[in-house]
Amino acid sequence: MLDAAPVVTAQKWGKIFDMTKLSVNINKIALLRNSRGGNFPNVCEMALLCEKYGADGITVHPRPDERHIRYRDVIDIKPLLSTEFNIEGYPSANFMDLVLKVNPHQVTLVPDAPDALTSNAGWDCIKHAAFLTEVLDAFRSKGIRTSLFIETDNKQIEQAAKLGTDRVELYTGPYAERYPKEPAAAIKPYIQAAETARKNGLSVNAGHDLNLHNLPLFYRSIPFTEEVSIGHALMVDALLMGLENSIKSYKNCLK
Ligand code: PXP
Repeated sequence: MLDAAPVVTAQKWGKIFDMTKLSVNINKIALLRNSRGGNFPNVCEMALLCEKYGADGITVHPRPDERHIRYRDVIDIKPLLSTEFNIEGYPSANFMDLVLKVNPHQVTLVPDAPDALTSNAGWDCIKHAAFLTEVLDAFRSKGIRTSLFIETDNKQIEQAAKLGTDRVELYTGPYAERYPKEPAAAIKPYIQAAETARKNGLSVNAGHDLNLHNLPLFYRSIPFTEEVSIGHALMVDALLMGLENSIKSYKNCLK
């Protein structure tokens, strides 16, 4: 019953795409560490293990209350990595200072309120145009690739391109929610949004609530997705099958 969606193949797009990168979000590892107050598990060591097991990048999302990844972790992890480092977060003054100091490969900006449980909406790029232009300029002038977390709204995507971001990260929460009952309808707005992004010169990332069930259809439908960042489900799967098998299973979905 699943996977009945119109699939856009690499051939239809007229080129062979580089593989979509898997950036592993390690926030849940920090949450486990913080629950006991010590340094076990060690997030730096775990980030290196994720790389060893096949992650193409590491994502962290330091929140203002530091309830999982702490600002100190972000500073400690960066020099150890041999893959891409992606820092997500709301661009508060503290967050911007941290990112500009650490100089990751990519910063993904989310519009979260400070007390948000998790990211649950994309930017309103029209309403926040002036703020985002300033913030994006600050990162881009330091050579940090920028990505804006966004929903599947053509107007927002066109505006994101005007603001000068390099990429958009499509918020896949609504896709994941709808997928079990109607996969074809769930993926449709994402195909259209990704096409709009591409036409406007933007590269496409995706993330939130992706898992081993819904990732294959997303990847096959939008094979030019540059990167998916996945944390929650990948770590739950790691409990069931081990971190190495979990990362390898997600990588297999991107072939
Ligand atoms: N992208 C963004 C912007 C996020 O905030 C998160 C969650 O931290 C993710 C992707 C990853 O979502 P999940 O943990 O559901 O895989």
